[in-house]
Amino acid sequence: MDVNPDRLNAFIGKMLGDVGAAMNASLMLIGDKLGLYKTLSEKGPFTSTELAQATDTSERYVREWLAAQAASGYVEYDAATGKFSMTPEQTMVFGDEDSPVFMGAVGSLVSATLLDEPKISQAFKTGKGVGWNRRSECLFCGTARFFRTGYKHHLVQEWLPALDGVVEKLERGAKVADVGCGHGVSTRLMAQAFPNSRFLGFDYHPGSIEAARRAAKQAGLGDRVRFDVHSAKTYPAAGYDLVCMFDCLHDMGDPVGAMTHVRETMAADGTCMLVEPFAGDRLEENLNPVGRIYYAASTVICTPASLDQEVGLALGAQAGEARLRDVAGKAGFTRFRRATETAFNLILEARA
Ligand SMILES: C[S@@+](CC[C@H](N)C(=O)[O-])C[C@H]1O[C@@H](n2cnc3c(N)ncnc32)[C@H](O)[C@@H]1O
Repeated sequence: MDVNPDRLNAFIGKMLGDVGAAMNASLMLIGDKLGLYKTLSEKGPFTSTELAQATDTSERYVREWLAAQAASGYVEYDAATGKFSMTPEQTMVFGDEDSPVFMGAVGSLVSATLLDEPKISQAFKTGKGVGWNRRSECLFCGTARFFRTGYKHHLVQEWLPALDGVVEKLERGAKVADVGCGHGVSTRLMAQAFPNSRFLGFDYHPGSIEAARRAAKQAGLGDRVRFDVHSAKTYPAAGYDLVCMFDCLHDMGDPVGAMTHVRETMAADGTCMLVEPFAGDRLEENLNPVGRIYYAASTVICTPASLDQEVGLALGAQAGEARLRDVAGKAGFTRFRRATETAFNLILEARA
């Protein structure tokens, strides 16, 4: 073996960073779950004793957690006072659920991938799928909260206006289906912004639909918003002006069948909005930090979900625009374009 010591040291350095991040993943979940980040960012600087008192937790655990957070660069430590604090930037990422860069929910997603690992390892051997209904609970709420950040700051402000003539219809009063809606975060955001329109959310996972119903009731959205258990290929047709699919087409076993049904349930001049993970068409275009996150999620979440369903096309979370265009074309859509994009999402418009 011809080992280059500089390259070896550089690779070990990278791995030390990655191992540190992996070891700290559950600490991120703990900080989010117990309100440690939120309390520290809102009320700090705090010593470990003060943070423990403010969050009704045990000081010894909080002291160790704070040390790990400071070593991660997620909180600041002042050796002179023994107090910990969070900068405005750290607060935006971990402490403020409404910030445009909040990522505090990622700990739940990482935790779900580890809890479900035995099922996924087994699936690697058998080639069979692991359905959404067989996943750990934290995957559902983690997904809803993690994606909420992007939806809250882009959906009504940028994505819907990028579609041809859709906002005018929504303002006048349109009928909208949110297919694969999960906990219905996107459905609620649209319903709040467009009070003249009606929204129907569909998902094949009963637990998610129950959660979506509870949240809509809490938000006081009344009968303008309704959630029902249906697969993307069976939800009732109703001449929808807009059918949305947020980060779910690639999770489906039969995306061509699903998109065919979408087209058949739409009004003649209706629009389908596909929100999919940002990706280039070729693997080499996606070998970057965003692709790294998505390929990992795809391996343990999206690909097993699709392989569990009929057809099992398993597009993967990095399908890219060309592959998605092909799916839409096979489903009978004649017009397809990239309406807009963010660092994390492609927003695609398909019309019959
Ligand atoms: C990654 S989650 C996204 C959920 C939600 N759209 C969001 O953005 O928060 C994928 C969703 O697709 C749903 N799903 C997967 N296959 C489906 C199918 N064939 N029909 C309906 N829903 C499906 C899952 O139950 C899950 O809620």
